[in-house]
Amino acid sequence: MVEIAPSVLSADFSRLDRAVEDVRKGGASMIHVDVMDGHFVPNITIGPPVVSSLRAATDLMLDCHLMIDEPDRYVPAFVEAGAGMISVHQEACPHLNRSVQLIRDREVLAGVVINPATPVSSLDDILEFVDFVLVMSVNPGFGGQAFIPSSLVKIEGLDRIRRQRGLDYRIEIDGGVNLDNLTSIIEAGCDIVVAGSSIFGTPDATAAVEAMRRKAEEAQLLRA
Ligand code: DX5
Ligand code: ZN
Repeated sequence: MVEIAPSVLSADFSRLDRAVEDVRKGGASMIHVDVMDGHFVPNITIGPPVVSSLRAATDLMLDCHLMIDEPDRYVPAFVEAGAGMISVHQEACPHLNRSVQLIRDREVLAGVVINPATPVSSLDDILEFVDFVLVMSVNPGFGGQAFIPSSLVKIEGLDRIRRQRGLDYRIEIDGGVNLDNLTSIIEAGCDIVVAGSSIFGTPDATAAVEAMRRKAEEAQLLRA
């Protein structure tokens, strides 16, 4: 089943409890948490204490997207804080296999992320070890940017490879997703859709998630 993962980056940080409850009511099954360090990306956001507070506020899966240098140093703290999924950037990990194993050893779902300029082929040797692959469809750092259309080709490629190689990683997309491009994203083979501004930038986040979920489910039926 396709899942919608609202990114709280675009929510009101002083009322994250309300933001999480709003999207849960709309049928969101996970919360996407954007962790930025001001080095790997030109923005600073949140760290493990906020993940702990979210953990206390909701039962939803917390999907922590680490846009940070040297992620291995912080993985244990995010696990401790309650992350259920952790993804690290291919571009930030010289020892990607070790970074992925570090996450898996802690019984948390492990993902690897590629930036728009990083090819799917760079993941050939890690795909069998990951639970999910996150395709960035904007340059990471900020919400509200425009979707880069060539990301669809990457999703199709990842979907084809997993069938050819008999792998079961899930495919996630992040950046610039809205109701207009959602159908083509799902048709390309995507399983988890991150959306920030198209959910929290609207007056009714619950209704926005409901609309995305319905559209995603329709597109998935056509795919199957
Ligand atoms: C960008 C983040 C995204 C961001 C998406 O670096 O990784 O998760 O919140 O926001 P929208 O959906 O507004 O592009
Ligand atoms: Zn993200």
